[in-house]
Amino acid sequence: MSDKLKDKYSRTYKYLRVSVTDRCNFRCKYCIPTHDFEFIPHSKILKYEDIIFAVDSFSKLGIEKIRLTGGEPLVRKNISFLISEIGKIKGIKETTLTTNGSLLGKFATDIFDAGIRRINISLDSLKQDRYEYITGGFKLDDIIEGINQAINVGLSPIKINVVAIKTFNDDEILDFCDFAAKNKLNVRFIEFMPIGNKIEWRKEHIITGEEILKIISKKYSYEPVKKAKFEGPAVNYMLSNGAKIGIITPISNHFCSECDKLRLTADGKLRPCLLSDKEINLFDEIKNRDFDKFKEKIRESLKLKELDHNITNEGCDTQFKRTMSKIGG
Ligand code: 5AD
Ligand code: SF4
Repeated sequence: MSDKLKDKYSRTYKYLRVSVTDRCNFRCKYCIPTHDFEFIPHSKILKYEDIIFAVDSFSKLGIEKIRLTGGEPLVRKNISFLISEIGKIKGIKETTLTTNGSLLGKFATDIFDAGIRRINISLDSLKQDRYEYITGGFKLDDIIEGINQAINVGLSPIKINVVAIKTFNDDEILDFCDFAAKNKLNVRFIEFMPIGNKIEWRKEHIITGEEILKIISKKYSYEPVKKAKFEGPAVNYMLSNGAKIGIITPISNHFCSECDKLRLTADGKLRPCLLSDKEINLFDEIKNRDFDKFKEKIRESLKLKELDHNITNEGCDTQFKRTMSKIGG
């Protein structure tokens, strides 16, 4: 039998998101609850040598692309070491990173030197008061400076992730389109998912991809951009102002049938689907460097992967056990 990871629906897995920490300097309102929230104890967090073993093992099973996430990956000490070690693993073609951008001023050069090129930066508002409100007190100017620093050191492509939330930033969709054109950045709008701090989520706050396009069409015309292979779930558009915009529709238009993604949490659990709490604990196999058992468990975990998830615009009954900061997006 081939060692490649395939599920019963013939989806092949080439992409692994690795959450290196559940800690984050931000307290995004929709992500981290203010009450009854605990970080994973340090003793349960995988060490760098554990993550390197895990990634090496995954690469033997066909994983080619790694995205480092958190929490906030840049709060973990000496992340550049991990990046460069992952870069040495045979079979890993690319390592990318998703960040809130606040530490890019400090670390953009280091991560570039360690081998990162492609990064995604979360940015939910272009207005200081709103940015401060949603992130729990951070300065928009610092993030803009971080983005500029990322551009200056040569990180590319840079994608900006905007969680689209009605009553919060729905009046900024066009501002983001202008921001994308002006800075030559790919801005992606993500439909608001009921995962994270559930108290903040209401189905009335979802802006669907269709609604986003309707808002855009009031000012700009747009053409769909043909998707490159393995480009991920965003559907991209070129706008008449020159902006490249992506729309990610986990709620209104599921893309599960093309999913090629697995997730490893900071405490060594494999989460086959973002929107399902089913997990397989790989902590012991990773700690014991037991590749055979590791492989066996991953194959088992793929049997847990459903063809689709059941969250729609009509709502969601699930209260997910993990917040986004404990999964990594
Ligand atoms: N819905 C949609 N996107 C979310 N993110 C975090 N929480 C949610 C949510 N509930 C985004 C982050 C980050 C990406 C990995 O996921 O803002 O950009
Ligand atoms: Fe941190 Fe990202 Fe969660 Fe915001 S959404 S608190 S930046 S992990």
